[in-house]
Amino acid sequence: TGYVTLDPGFVNTASCASAITYIDGDAGILRYRGYPIEELAEHSSFIEVCYLLIYGELPTAEQLGSFWEKVSQHTMLHEDFKSFFSGFPRDAHPMAVLASAVGALSTFYQDSLDPFDPEQVDISSIRLISKLPTIAAYAYKTSIGQPLLYPDNSLGYTENFLRMTFGVPTQPYEIDPEIARVLDMLFILHADHEQNCSTSTVRLVGSSQANLFSSISAGVNALWGPLHGGANQAVLEMLQNIHDSGDDVDTFVRRVKAKEPGLKLMGFGHRVYRNYDPRATVVKQATRKVLDRLGRPDPLLDVAMRLEEVALSDDYFVERKLYPNVDFYTGVIYKALGFPTNAFTVLFALGRLPGWIAQWREMMSDSTTKIGRPRQVYVGPPERSYVEVAER
Ligand code: CMC
Repeated sequence: TGYVTLDPGFVNTASCASAITYIDGDAGILRYRGYPIEELAEHSSFIEVCYLLIYGELPTAEQLGSFWEKVSQHTMLHEDFKSFFSGFPRDAHPMAVLASAVGALSTFYQDSLDPFDPEQVDISSIRLISKLPTIAAYAYKTSIGQPLLYPDNSLGYTENFLRMTFGVPTQPYEIDPEIARVLDMLFILHADHEQNCSTSTVRLVGSSQANLFSSISAGVNALWGPLHGGANQAVLEMLQNIHDSGDDVDTFVRRVKAKEPGLKLMGFGHRVYRNYDPRATVVKQATRKVLDRLGRPDPLLDVAMRLEEVALSDDYFVERKLYPNVDFYTGVIYKALGFPTNAFTVLFALGRLPGWIAQWREMMSDSTTKIGRPRQVYVGPPERSYVEVAER
């Protein structure tokens, strides 16, 4: 009794069995429910991938139609919900607003909080997928002092999000279908990544039988950190700093290798991938296309490409098998689309949502699930006797 194995950061321990996402980190392979990420990115849609992750199979045309009908019916937020956005400081980080708003959904939808009622779980899942873009857009609109735009259910998922984010009530918003397609594809690339920090958080919170909204809110908070989803913001800030100080990539890499405190090559490295992150390959190809299409060349893309070139030919990165991850190039695209830097991680959250939901549901429907409760190796003082304050 009392024997435990120390595994800080869960480097060697699988916390669950899962049939959702497969990663081979050495070979750089990622599949959702068996389908290679590259094929899904090219041919599928984010809504179809949501269905695939949550229900396990690609939907038939009929299943997709009825899933979409449900999702598009729940895009509005309760009118009282709007006071949340005006209640936060204007300059609040949108991830803080998002996490709070998602947590608050459990106050508005008290009819669907039972984690063991399949219908309640289903409607909560739909509500989350439908409402997250509205919440994200409202958070942004409030931060810049523009009026909130109601969702338009005649539009596709990503088109509707773009319109709510960048449209104004005084004129029609023209959606470039190719740009909407790229953003949809980025959502697909982010949709699940097995037991990463935020997904493990969602599972751990859910293992106490907390409701879906509370569990997902915890996941949003976990995603915010710069070693996880917050890396996309950190990458752009890093590229901007390098550019502002004269594009001296070599000096920056030298400082990273010297392990200057707090300095890392953000957007590089991954716990599981010891090879090029397959998502980064797809994003890199899309980046140039987007900048060309928008006619907005960005010197930060050149800095990123030069950084990658220098790092991939440097022993420090080669020996440690550090390659660009999904966050390395996404920021350059998000910036070109007009998103402010602090909204990048919100876009990651929109993409990751179906994965969180699918993983939570998989865990909840497994009758062998136990509450997550890691052990520890105690290293504190042995037993000692209490000393009165006057005698210390
Ligand atoms: N820049 C410089 N050195 C690095 C980096 C980096 N980005 N990542 C790892 N290393 C070094 C690290 O210092 C260590 O060196 P040494 O053996 O000399 O001590 C070695 O590589 C192993 O690193 P580690 O920190 O033990 O690896 P980990 O698996 O614990 O961390 C990571 C993985 C993603 C947190 C880390 O690579 C990192 O901090 N990367 C930058 C942040 C980032 O881009 N995060 C996004 C991850 S992908 C999207 C997502 O999941 O959200």
